[in-house]
Amino acid sequence: MTCTSSPGVAIPAPPAAPEGHRSAPLCAGLDIGGTAIKYALVDPLRGSTTGPVRRVPTPSPATPAAVVAALQGVLTELEAEAEEPLAAVGVGVPGIVDDGIVRSAVHLDDSWLGVDARRLLTEGLDRSIAVLNDADAAGLAEAGFGAARGEPGTVLMITLGTGIGSALFLDGTLVPNTELGHVWLDGRDVDGWAGASARIAEGLDWPTYIDRVQRYLTHLEMLISPDLIVLGGGISERQEEFVPHLRLRARVVPAQLRNAAGIVGTALQAYRASVAGA
Ligand code: BGC
Repeated sequence: MTCTSSPGVAIPAPPAAPEGHRSAPLCAGLDIGGTAIKYALVDPLRGSTTGPVRRVPTPSPATPAAVVAALQGVLTELEAEAEEPLAAVGVGVPGIVDDGIVRSAVHLDDSWLGVDARRLLTEGLDRSIAVLNDADAAGLAEAGFGAARGEPGTVLMITLGTGIGSALFLDGTLVPNTELGHVWLDGRDVDGWAGASARIAEGLDWPTYIDRVQRYLTHLEMLISPDLIVLGGGISERQEEFVPHLRLRARVVPAQLRNAAGIVGTALQAYRASVAGA
């Protein structure tokens, strides 16, 4: 199944939501990536998108003002599509987000550092916004509705995209902002070496790329011994090319929500915060 979308690029839709769940008020999930901003309407009780997943290019340079302007357009589009007031809006950021403050921004403009993103986005989008790290958002979606649902022990989600993101769970509880995409291996930061963008930029064939991912995950396994590793991110659509080839002690599974996990997770977080604060 593929979502056709306009004006954005088509992205394959995540699996259909389970039957028999009550529909929740619609939420919006906005996932700022290093290359594209992906967005969709989300049903937070089903943990799925309800409309097409669309994408627009991340502005370059990706300054706070430029990104807010892009998000304004995106949100206007989603509000028109929803035809009802949105219950909550969440935004995923590709960097450390500590109580709303951006503490790293490898794939955004440096002027994000120290910015109170929650305040900036709440003012810029004229409504309460939940802000969190993009990989943590993807992990929350997979833990709630996808490949890590109900999984005890140590669960590690790794997103392979423009950068490498991580979400770490212990018995279902997120340890936020782990940034395990920035461990060093052979004297280099793996973020630019084993991310999906490195495969494309360097024109790597699959065996060479799989070897990098294998070495990276073996290193992580040595550090934290996860019980389950969920692989997601931009490379989600090509899981079958590499997941079966990986050899680790932990079980390794693809993200069920695929590349929409970050969108769903930001909306989930926003919905939970709005319910908790109601
Ligand atoms: C950032 C992470 C982010 C990941 C995926 C990394 O470069 O440091 O915060 O989760 O990219 O976007």
